[in-house]
Amino acid sequence: MCGIVGYTGSRPAGPLLFDGLQKLEYRGYDSAGIALLTPEGVQTVKNAGQKDVMALEVLAGKISLLPESVTGIGHTRWATHGRPTDANAHPHSDGSGEFAAVHNGIIENYMVLRERLQSEGCVFRSETDSEVIAHLLARHYSGDLAEALRLVLAEIEGSFAIVAMSSRHPGQLVAARQNVPLIVGAGAENEFFIASDIPAVLKETRDVYVLEDGEMAVVAGGKISFSDFAGTPRAKTTMRVTWDAVAAEKAGYEHFMLKEIDEQPRALRDTLYGRVDKSGAINLGIRAEFFSGVSRVVLVACGTAYHAGLIGRELLERWARIPAETAIASEFRYRRPLVDERTLVVAVSQSGETADTLAALREARKSGARVLAVTNVVGSTAAREADEVLFTWAGPEIAVASTKAYTTQLEIMVLLALFLATDRGRLGREDCASILAELKALPAKIEEILARKAELQRIAAYVSKADSAFFIGRGLDWAVALEGALKLKEISYIHAEAYAAGELKHGTLALITADTPVLAVVTQKALYEKTLSNVEEVKAREGRVLAIARPDNKGLAASADEVFWLPEVSDALAPIVTIVPLQIIAYYAAVQRGNHVDKPRNLAKTVTTE
Ligand code: M6R
Repeated sequence: MCGIVGYTGSRPAGPLLFDGLQKLEYRGYDSAGIALLTPEGVQTVKNAGQKDVMALEVLAGKISLLPESVTGIGHTRWATHGRPTDANAHPHSDGSGEFAAVHNGIIENYMVLRERLQSEGCVFRSETDSEVIAHLLARHYSGDLAEALRLVLAEIEGSFAIVAMSSRHPGQLVAARQNVPLIVGAGAENEFFIASDIPAVLKETRDVYVLEDGEMAVVAGGKISFSDFAGTPRAKTTMRVTWDAVAAEKAGYEHFMLKEIDEQPRALRDTLYGRVDKSGAINLGIRAEFFSGVSRVVLVACGTAYHAGLIGRELLERWARIPAETAIASEFRYRRPLVDERTLVVAVSQSGETADTLAALREARKSGARVLAVTNVVGSTAAREADEVLFTWAGPEIAVASTKAYTTQLEIMVLLALFLATDRGRLGREDCASILAELKALPAKIEEILARKAELQRIAAYVSKADSAFFIGRGLDWAVALEGALKLKEISYIHAEAYAAGELKHGTLALITADTPVLAVVTQKALYEKTLSNVEEVKAREGRVLAIARPDNKGLAASADEVFWLPEVSDALAPIVTIVPLQIIAYYAAVQRGNHVDKPRNLAKTVTTE
């Protein structure tokens, strides 16, 4: 995945583009570049990151080398085709240096196009799929840049967001979108900002056009026009972004991840707000017929969102007694899933742009299923393509490691399961009311945990020295263990695996040594004794057990090496609270190891490739 920006107006474009790229760094950060339009042609600076210096930091030192210009494009990259090198960084130009383009996505037929262009004399300077766009633009150009882009779009296959410019058209940018997000912000001074995501333009404008798949935009001379790829004009209106740009900034924290961990009480309150009416009934804002006759629920998602889906499945079956399954989105679409019009498919995705989840969503729609998106991003593809949407109101999540998005997804899972359970008469109003009362009280309990970071820092100091760690739990605790292990591995780079605690003795115990931390999640009352025996199994092999437990599991104190006691919480809602100490342990372990916490190696915040 990559982040792209464009600017045309009357102010110096270089600093504005750089500022936008900084906001998009979460989308990829192995290389970056900016190109400006000048009377002498396109002038470009671009580079990969260097050892311990991020690509944008290197780029910052080069911006001053560019001449002043009021039009330009920029890119921050996460490598797919071609290594992260200076040459592979975008923007890419044609041989004459008159045309330049930035691209996010994958051009699937680029090899064929590249070979053809090479046979026609084009010299390629990168290993990327994207470079073909610049060469094709030059080939197709006959006086009209938008028309040239249209002809390029007719040739390329795959997914893309593209912004291009040419020194033959000062002040003009052309852009197109197919399966990859792209927005255009309308600035105050007859200026336009193009970007992959809204935070990149918020400092400058709140009025934003969201491009749909198959749409192009042309901006020039303070005017904007839209069309489909065939050139048929489209009318579009701006949407007003109401959330605050400051919300996307670090607000004094060293890392976005810690800020976002601390924001969870607020995010949970916001997500619940307005969804339970005065009479205690759940109001999801979804038309009643949407759920009627649903006989099965399939939750599709990736990574952390998949872990949230695992908990959703359990609660749906427990409370609503509806058969439910959770599927990894990248697997779902290839297994010819059995879904029909009585199946509710819930696509869970923080960004709403994850390619695998979108593909699963589309597959489900094709099969006639009703599709509900659970997403954090208004205007995202998932939100627009699903039949109905439930937003998590977590606010922008910038750190690659998902925290507040996960806990708010869990809150939505609780609300959805309760709604269906009461709607179908599977759960009485009183039981529902008591769960909702507890849900409302959870933010305060999380605040108690957040105030005890020092205890968790001590555990993290120990974990940070390990080469390998295991997470164990049963039932909902196992689902939380999976998420805890993902958090630790992605930012600390410590090998971490989660096991259903009962599975340890079927193989994994062979790996337990005195140097192996085992993080035991012990919150489920009915499973407590069983998990305690698994803790004993680890202790008998000299493993070190660090437990996260409910206060009534006091017997654990004698078995585990260290216990972090949670505030009192019921079995069903425990995951929303239990994950918080595990997020904090992962965070401090990564800090202790000196890692880039917000931008771990090899990862990107939003994964728009399949
Ligand atoms: O935006 P999405 O929720 O669809 O992203 C899915 C995963 O890529 C994501 O949850 C990933 O696993 C987390 N960033 C890990 O912390």
